[in-house]
Amino acid sequence: MYATVNGVRLAFSARGRGRGPALLLIHGFPLDRRMWEAQLSGLSRLAHVVAPDLRGHGQSEAPSGPYSMDRHADDLAGLLDRLSIQQAIVTGLSMGGYVAFAFWRRHAERVLALTLLDTRAEPDTPQAQAGRDAAAARVQQIGAEAFAREMLPRLLAPASLTDPDIADRALAIMASQTPSGIVAALAGLRDRPDSRPILPTITAPTLVVVGAEDALTPPADAAAMAAAIPQARLATIPAAGHLSPLENPAAVNATLRELIRRIGQ
Ligand code: MLT
Repeated sequence: MYATVNGVRLAFSARGRGRGPALLLIHGFPLDRRMWEAQLSGLSRLAHVVAPDLRGHGQSEAPSGPYSMDRHADDLAGLLDRLSIQQAIVTGLSMGGYVAFAFWRRHAERVLALTLLDTRAEPDTPQAQAGRDAAAARVQQIGAEAFAREMLPRLLAPASLTDPDIADRALAIMASQTPSGIVAALAGLRDRPDSRPILPTITAPTLVVVGAEDALTPPADAAAMAAAIPQARLATIPAAGHLSPLENPAAVNATLRELIRRIGQ
């Protein structure tokens, strides 16, 4: 399905309308809503699950960037308006988590609960920012598929990397993004703000989820982030790296189900 929000045509999937709270699923980089397939099918009996492609990703329109986290958050608030959803369990993976922080900063009254998967509150270091610029040059040089192949080993747990069901699916999603969308996303990632100051202000029930083998946003960092958020619970997902909803969907769905039931009471 499509909706035009802030002048941009956004693609989204929605299932389970009228069945409990809304669950907004925000994908990571360089991915799209297909990463949430197991959550769309597994949670739509309990919740109205909405998974958009952020601008510049998947089947959404790709205006020129950079795509700031604030811009994405405002797009999502506009999409919820279009779907007549007042409040949602705002759930983001990695870049999606950065967008979830921006959503909290700008639209806190619409947050029923927050789920932060495999993400971090820290901004990029100067070195990481230089890495974003190098990555932007690289993807323009080698194309999205080769770029995705280079990135994949950092995203998945070693066992997931040798499981074609997981590795091929992740690769196919990443390889189908456009170089221009990836470049605009990288600029937004590079310039994102420090979200550490807002952690103590997050009063919504919060679930922090991390893959036990996440090398990019490791479990110790997730634990520290959860400790800084007043009402946060921490769930560690076994047999998963940075893409826990794809790598161990059963465990991620179980922890999301528990949150949805808690919120629904
Ligand atoms: C993601 O998975 O969204 C990226 O790892 C985010 C990032 O590079 O900071």
